Amino acid sequence: MKHGDTRPLVEVKHLQKFYPIRKGLIPHVVGNVQAVNDVSFSLTRRETLGLVGESGCGKTTVGRCVLRLIEPTGGQVSFDGADVLAMSAGGLRTLRRRMQIIFQDPYSSLNPRHTVAETVGDAMRLHRLVTSRAACRDRVAQLLERVGLNRNYVNRYPHEFSGGQRQRIGIARALAVEPEFIVCDEAVSALDVSIQAQILNLLSDLQREMNLAYLFIAHDLAVVRHISDRIAVMYLGQIVEEAETDDLFAHPLHPYTRALLSAIPVPVPKRVRTHIPLKGDVPSPINPPSGCHFRTRCPLATAECADSRPPLVEIRPGHRAACFHIDRIEELPLPLASKLTEEAEG
Ligand SMILES: Nc1ncnc2c1ncn2[C@@H]1O[C@H](COP(=O)(O)OP(=O)(O)OP(=O)(O)O)[C@@H](O)[C@H]1O
Ligand SMILES: [Mg+2]
Repeated sequence: MKHGDTRPLVEVKHLQKFYPIRKGLIPHVVGNVQAVNDVSFSLTRRETLGLVGESGCGKTTVGRCVLRLIEPTGGQVSFDGADVLAMSAGGLRTLRRRMQIIFQDPYSSLNPRHTVAETVGDAMRLHRLVTSRAACRDRVAQLLERVGLNRNYVNRYPHEFSGGQRQRIGIARALAVEPEFIVCDEAVSALDVSIQAQILNLLSDLQREMNLAYLFIAHDLAVVRHISDRIAVMYLGQIVEEAETDDLFAHPLHPYTRALLSAIPVPVPKRVRTHIPLKGDVPSPINPPSGCHFRTRCPLATAECADSRPPLVEIRPGHRAACFHIDRIEELPLPLASKLTEEAEG
């Protein structure tokens, strides 16, 4: 482990979120979207957990449940030892200062009629972190500089900025309340690759300076790789594999992780074909396949996989995977991205 303090800052156990589907003239519940079903993980201070998986697998739902922006259907969430789901409105208000979120599209999350000073300053005033207008203005200017923007931009409006600059404003707003934990929900996904790298570097620097923990959500493994200490891979509402980043890249144990890794573009001429095609589309979370949810697309699936859900078990130290056929994983080619990681590790 990279960091000293191993006590969890955020701990999630058996998290579940079902969205009811209502139909009829007098609406009644006819089914559930099983968006998140039994997800557990923990995060220590200054640590980044990457959360990846295809669109619709439940990543945003996990992030919002942890911050209690939506109410989970079941499970436990604790923050610095406190039970988040049992908290009163007052307790939650205090907590909201300590936990923040950065969104994919800063434009839709920034009020177009508010200047940067208002947007970034509002949260500070709400939590009474500044005592005067002048102090607020100073602090906003400082924050702008810290996220790489000119301090004279305080009076500008969101439409006057580029996508990357708007994301920097979103980061400044999150930092304004001096949080300890930030959920970054596809925070760089909408940006050009070169801008992505700049924002990822900024987030890494800020993490070190301000002792932040991140839950870093993205659909792309390549994006989370350089910022994450550990990565959890989600499929249809469940975590199917979790490991330290280099271990996950070098030794992927779940067929789904292998398929995701094999889709990462690698900057070398094609040496061998290692692409693992995924059959069909992601099934509906309203009626997921029985047993292992991935079995309908899995090249290793057998009849057994339909009977029960494979538990997430520790296969190597700190490396968990949920599959009945881990002993057969070498039947699938090792993705090029994994080979390169292994070679780099020597
Ligand atoms: N308010 C809602 N009501 C009903 N279903 C919802 C609601 N919000 C999300 N869902 C469904 O829950 C599932 C998980 O959604 P979620 O947004 O958490 O996925 P995601 O992994 O963040 O996807 P993406 O990569 O597209 O952002 C999806 O099937 C989605 O359609
Ligand atoms: Mg999402």
